Amino acid sequence: MITYVDATTKARRTAGVIPLHGAEGFEGMRRAGALTARALDELTPFVEAGVPTSTIDRVAYEFARDNGAVPATVFYKGYRHSVCTSINHVVCHGIPDERPLRDGDIVNVDLTLVLDGWHGDSSRMYPVGEISRKAERLIEVTYQSLEAGIAAAKPGNTTGDIGAAIQAVAEGERMSVVRDFVGHGLGRLFHDEPNILHFGTPGSGVPLKPGMIFTIEPMINLGRPHVKILADGWTAVTRDRTLSAQCEHSIGITETGCEVFTLSPAGLFNPLASRSA
Ligand code: MF3
Ligand code: CO
Ligand code: CO
Repeated sequence: MITYVDATTKARRTAGVIPLHGAEGFEGMRRAGALTARALDELTPFVEAGVPTSTIDRVAYEFARDNGAVPATVFYKGYRHSVCTSINHVVCHGIPDERPLRDGDIVNVDLTLVLDGWHGDSSRMYPVGEISRKAERLIEVTYQSLEAGIAAAKPGNTTGDIGAAIQAVAEGERMSVVRDFVGHGLGRLFHDEPNILHFGTPGSGVPLKPGMIFTIEPMINLGRPHVKILADGWTAVTRDRTLSAQCEHSIGITETGCEVFTLSPAGLFNPLASRSA
């Protein structure tokens, strides 16, 4: 059974209860999302060969501090860093460390900034120097899949329509959709109802209603969809060690479609958009 409630009456995640946000929530998310997007823009020059991901983490932390925000992941379930940095066959939740990035790496940086209590959650791909043609294709298809998911995010559709749209794009290019991690409601909470699966059947899941706020964050693999978690308890990698990519926006359902809260002010969300593909 699904129920929807006014978001202002709901302080904790409750299974099956979906908060519907009003103008105040949308305004809060607009500000938090814009700040997260600007932070991801400003990280771009640091995602370079020779630079360790710990530097990216530090720059993100300092950006948050200097702008009155807090990274949601610090002290989240024992996580201690401001960003996740997921390189090559790492699917998600890679932990920043001292190893320098190398030419040809593809890196996802995932950042959630909390501003005035609202969570802006977004991630993008960053190519390091020259990357392979297959890495470029993977990144491009991952962005197209997110775009297809966003296009399906409107009243009259369901969460399953979003997943089906993403899956059709990825599998149409003979790539695969990771099943083990999903998008999520957010707002004053980091992870709320509903779950947003990045695969599925049209018409399944939860009907989309104006006021719902959630992420779409497909993880797409060049090989098979299966993942395993490394001994650190966080890092998820492809079992077959093929490349994986991810991109994430925070959105809100409106009367006619959706509003994307985490658009890049500098137009850097898809790093390959300006390259000739
Ligand atoms: N930002 C991630 C998401 O998109 C969550 C990271 S949780 C962490 O939901 F603890 F791994 F950082
Ligand atoms: Co998220
Ligand atoms: Co995220």
